[in-house]
Amino acid sequence: MEKTSKKTINQVLPVGQKVQIAKDGYVKLPVSLDTDQEVLFVPTDSGYRLITLIQDVKRVYIEVTTKCNFACITCIRSSWQDELTHMEWSTFEKILNSLKELPDLESVHFGGFGEPLLHPRIFDMLKAVKELGLNVEMITNGSFLREEVIQKLIGLQVDVLFTSLDSPEEEEYNEIRQGANFQSVYSNIVNLQAMKRERRTKKPELGIEFVAMKKNFDRLPKLIRMAWDLKASQVIVTNLLPYHESMKDEIVYDTDDTGAMFGCHSYESLLISLKANMSNMKLRTERYCKFVQDKSLCINHKGNVSPCYPLMHTYQCYVYGRQKQMYPCYLGNVNEKTLREIWMDSGYVNFRQTVNDYRFPSCTDCRMLDGCNYTDSNEMDCWANSPSCAECLWARRIIACP
Ligand SMILES: C[S@@+](CC[C@H](N)C(=O)[O-])C[C@H]1O[C@@H](n2cnc3c(N)ncnc32)[C@H](O)[C@@H]1O
Ligand code: SF4
Ligand code: SF4
Ligand code: SF4
Repeated sequence: MEKTSKKTINQVLPVGQKVQIAKDGYVKLPVSLDTDQEVLFVPTDSGYRLITLIQDVKRVYIEVTTKCNFACITCIRSSWQDELTHMEWSTFEKILNSLKELPDLESVHFGGFGEPLLHPRIFDMLKAVKELGLNVEMITNGSFLREEVIQKLIGLQVDVLFTSLDSPEEEEYNEIRQGANFQSVYSNIVNLQAMKRERRTKKPELGIEFVAMKKNFDRLPKLIRMAWDLKASQVIVTNLLPYHESMKDEIVYDTDDTGAMFGCHSYESLLISLKANMSNMKLRTERYCKFVQDKSLCINHKGNVSPCYPLMHTYQCYVYGRQKQMYPCYLGNVNEKTLREIWMDSGYVNFRQTVNDYRFPSCTDCRMLDGCNYTDSNEMDCWANSPSCAECLWARRIIACP
C-alpha cells in the first residue's frame, strides 16, 4: 500500500486488510499508511473505500431571510410551503462561530430565496463576516439601494454585489418583477457606480443576474450592453426553472440561438470582457455540480444546512414540462451542531463522494424517462440514491447562480 498524504487518501483498501472500526463507522488507518488522519470507511463492490475527512469547505451560502418586497413571476416563494421569516440573530451567531473553524473557507455569499437587504441586521452580518477576513458577496433585487445603504456597502468593502435585472426594458422588467420599479432600481445601480467612483473604490464590484425565458430572451444582447455601460464586472445568465405551471412553457434551453444572437465579434468580446457567465442552452451529457465540486454548503433561514440551493426547500418545479416534487435535504442544523461537525458527518461525506464520482443516473439521457415514476420527485432514483441528483438542471449548468 502506498504512503498517503493529507489530501490523497481516497482509495480502495483490499478486503482482508485489518483496520479498527469505531461504532460510528470511522476508522484509524493502519500504521503502515503513515497517517493519523480521520478517514471514513465505506464498503464498495471491490473492497473498502477510505475517504479522508478534511474540513475543506470553501464557500458558504447564507439565506438570511425568505421575506421579500417583490413578487416576481419567476420566483419559487409563491410555490413552496416554507415559512416567510428572517433568520434569528442567535442562529447567525452560531454560524459565525462555526465559520471560524473552517480553515479553507474563502467566501460567504448572502443570498438564498428572499431579499437579504430586508433583514434588520444585514449590515451587522456583513460586517461580522468581513471581519473574519473572508470575501463577502450579496445578491439583491436592487430596490433598497438608497444612498445611505450604498455608503454602508462601500464602507464595509463588500466584495461583490449582484443585482437582478430580468430585462433592460421598463415595461417588461416591471411585468416580470411584480412590485418593482425599473427606473428606481436602474438609478440605484447608476448611483452605486457613481458613489464608488467618488470614493475611489472598486468595491463592491457590480454583478448582474438575468433569468432567461421566452418573454425576455430577445432582450439579452441589450441587457449585456447595459451591463457593459454600467461597468458591471460580471453577468450571470441563467435559464428559468419554472416553479409554476403558468411558467412551464417559458423555458428557452434546448432552443439555443445564442450563436446567432452573439454571432458578431463585438458581442463576443463584450461577453469575454464582462466575464459573462452564460448558462448552457442545450442539455449536455457532461455534469458538474458547482456546489459539491467547489466545496460549498448552503444554510437556510432556519439554520438548516443543505448541500445546494435546489435542496434547501420543499417546492414543485417543472422539468421539460413535467411536474416534479422537490424535498429538501438537511444534513444538520447550525443551532445543534457546528458546520465542521455537519461537514464531516458520514452521511454528508458519502453524499459528496457520490456526486463527485457521478455515481448517479442521468434521467435526461434515459430512454425509460417517459414511463419512469422516480422522476415524480427527488426522493430516490433507480440507483437507490436518496435524495436523487439524477435530473438536476443545476448540475447541467442549465440553471446558474453566483
Ligand atoms: C431568488 S433571488 C434572491 C435574491 C434577490 N431577492 C433577487 O431577486 O436578486 C436570486 C436569483 O434567482 C433568480 N431567480 C428567480 N426565480 C428564478 C427561476 N425560476 N429560475 C432561475 N432563477 C431564478 C433571481 O432573478 C435572482 O437573480
Ligand atoms: S426579488 Fe428575489 S426573492 Fe423577491 S420575489 Fe423576486 S426573485 Fe423572489
Ligand atoms: S430514475 Fe428513471 S428516468 Fe432516471 S435514469 Fe433511472 S430509470 Fe431513467
Ligand atoms: S447535483 Fe444538483 S441536487 Fe445534487 S448536490 Fe448538486 S446541485 Fe444539489
